[in-house]
Amino acid sequence: GFLGYTGYTIYLLRTPSEQEEADPSKKTLVILGMCPSIGTAEYLLTKIGTGWGAVSLLKKLDTENYNVIVISPRNFFLFTPLLPSCTTGTIEHRSIMEPVRNILRHKKATVKYYEAEATKIDYQKKVVYINDDSEIKGDISSTEVPFDMLVVGVGAENATFGIPGVREHSCFLKEVGDAQQIRKRIMDCVETASFKDQSPEERKRLLHMVVVGGGPTGVEFAGELQDFFEQDLKKWVPEIVDSFHVTLVEALPNVLPMFSKQLIDYTEKSFKEESITIRTKTMVKNVTDKTIEAEFTRPDGTKEKEILPYGLLVWATGNALRPVVKDLMSQIPAQKDSRRGLAVNEYLVVNGTENIWAVGDCAIANYAPTAQVASQEGAFLARLFNSLAKTETINAELANLSTEQAKATGEERTQALNNIKALQRQLRRVKQIGPFEYSHQGSLAYIGHDKAVADISWLSGNIASGGTVTYWFWKSAYVNMCFSTRNRMLVLVDWVKSYIFGRDVSRE
Ligand code: FAD
Ligand code: NAI
Repeated sequence: GFLGYTGYTIYLLRTPSEQEEADPSKKTLVILGMCPSIGTAEYLLTKIGTGWGAVSLLKKLDTENYNVIVISPRNFFLFTPLLPSCTTGTIEHRSIMEPVRNILRHKKATVKYYEAEATKIDYQKKVVYINDDSEIKGDISSTEVPFDMLVVGVGAENATFGIPGVREHSCFLKEVGDAQQIRKRIMDCVETASFKDQSPEERKRLLHMVVVGGGPTGVEFAGELQDFFEQDLKKWVPEIVDSFHVTLVEALPNVLPMFSKQLIDYTEKSFKEESITIRTKTMVKNVTDKTIEAEFTRPDGTKEKEILPYGLLVWATGNALRPVVKDLMSQIPAQKDSRRGLAVNEYLVVNGTENIWAVGDCAIANYAPTAQVASQEGAFLARLFNSLAKTETINAELANLSTEQAKATGEERTQALNNIKALQRQLRRVKQIGPFEYSHQGSLAYIGHDKAVADISWLSGNIASGGTVTYWFWKSAYVNMCFSTRNRMLVLVDWVKSYIFGRDVSRE
C-alpha cells in the first residue's frame, strides 16, 4: 500500500497535467525574486524573485485569475535553513533546491518565467527593466516587462557595512554558490596546511577558521564546521588535529540575540565544550588577505585592537538593501524615511504606491527578516489576490443577473433575486480578508555536536529547550518543511549517507 502510494505520488509529480493558456484579458501580475506574477487579461501581475516570499505566494495563487510572470536570476527555490549543512557536505546542495520550472508546471494555468535580474522598477510607468545576467546570452538580453500589479520579493544582499577587504577576502553564506565556495576553501586550507615544509605558524593560520557575525547563520555554520572536523577531518587528516580551530566573532555582548537568555547561555556553554572560541564585544574593522583587524571592548569600556590571522573567513553579519530596491525607494516620496527596506502597509502594499506589494527580506513590516515571515507574507498575498479576482468575477455575475432580473417576471424574477442574494452573501465572505498578521511559530537553530536550541511559541506562552532531543525536533521539523517530497527524500538520504560513510573530503 505504502509503495503504491509513493509510486503514484512520484508519477503525479513527473507527469504534470495540461495547463490553461494565459488569458490576455486578465491583469498581469509580475513577481520579482521568484515570486510569481499574474497574467495579462484584466491584470498583468508580475513577481520578482524565487525565494521564500515569492514561492509561497506562487504555491497558493490561483494562476488562472491573472497573467503571471515570474522574474528571477535564480531558476530554483532554495531551502536556506539547511544551507549551512551544505558547506561541509552533510547535505548536497541539489537536495535543497527545487526547480522553478517544476513548481510552475504544476500550476493550473501557465505562468511565464524569465531568468533575469530586475535592474530597475519604474513605478509610474508600471514597467520592470530586466537583464539576462547568465553566461549564455541571446540577441536580446535586456528588455522591459509591463505590469498591472507587481510583487517585489528580491530578498536582501549581504551586509558588509563598507568594511574594507570584506568583499575581496571573505565568503558569504546566502546562496548555493557561497556554500560550494566554503566547502572548497575548507579543504584547500586543510591541504595547503599539510603542504611540505609548511611552518607551524602558517599551518595554524591556514587552519584558523573565523566566522564573523554571531546571528543564527554564523552560529549554525560554526557548529557544522566543528562537526566536520570532529567527525571526519580528524580521522582522514590526523596531522591537522593540533592546529585546526574555529573562532566566532561577534560585536555585541552575546550571540543569538533573538533567542532567550537561557538558550544564549546554553549555546555559549556548548561551544566552549566543542572547543569553538566565541569572541564577543569584538567588532571587525578591517580585513586583509590573511588577517582580520578587530576592536575588542574591555569590561571598563576601553578598546583594544586585535589582529587575528585566518585561513578561511566566513562573513555573516546580516542583510543589506539590494540596489533595485534602493532605487525604487528613491523614486517614491513616501519611502524617504525608510532605511532598511520597502515600508509597506498592513496589506503589504508598498507605501506611496497602489499596485506594488513587497514580501520577505526586502519589505519592512516590523518583523525579523526570516523565512517564516516571508512565507506567511507570500501566502497572505496569494489569498488576497485570489480574493480580489473572485470579487471581480462575482461583481461581473451580479451585474449580469441584475440586468436579467430587471427583464424577468414571476417565477424567473424570484429565482434571479435569490441568486443575487446568494452571490451577495458569497461576496461578503470573499471580501473578508483582514490585514496581514504574522503568527510566530518559534526560532530554531542547530549549534553543533548533535544539539539544537529552540524557542517555541506554545499556547500563547514560550518553551525554551536546548540539547539532543531538540536536535531531533530540529531535524524532523526541517525535513518536514522541505519544499517537495523529492527534497525530503534527498535530504534524508544525504543524512544517512553522511552517517554511514562520513562526509566526502575531496576538494572539487
Ligand atoms: P530570498 O529567499 O533571499 O529570495 C530572493 C529571491 O530574489 C531569489 O530568488 C533571488 O535570486 C531573487 N532576486 C535577487 N535579486 C533579484 C533581482 N534584482 N531581480 C529579480 N530577482 C532577484 N529563516 C528562518 O525563518 N529559519 C531559518 O532556519 C533560516 N535559516 C537561514 C539560513 C541561512 C544560511 C540564511 C542565509 C538564511 C536563513 N533564514 C532562515 C532567513 C531566510 O532565508 C530569509 O529570511 C528568506 O530567504 C527571505 O525570503 P525572501 O523571499 O525575502 O528572499
Ligand atoms: P543577523 O543580523 O541575525 O546577525 C548578524 C550579527 O553580526 C549581529 O549579531 C551583529 O551584531 C554582528 N555583526 C555585525 N557587524 C559586525 C562586525 N563588524 N564585527 C562583528 N560582528 C558583527 O544575521 P544572520 O545570522 O545572517 O541572519 C539574518 C536573518 O536570517 C536573521 O533575521 C535571522 O533570524 C535569519 N536566520 C534565521 C535562522 C534560524 O532561524 N535558524 C538561520 C539563519 C538566519
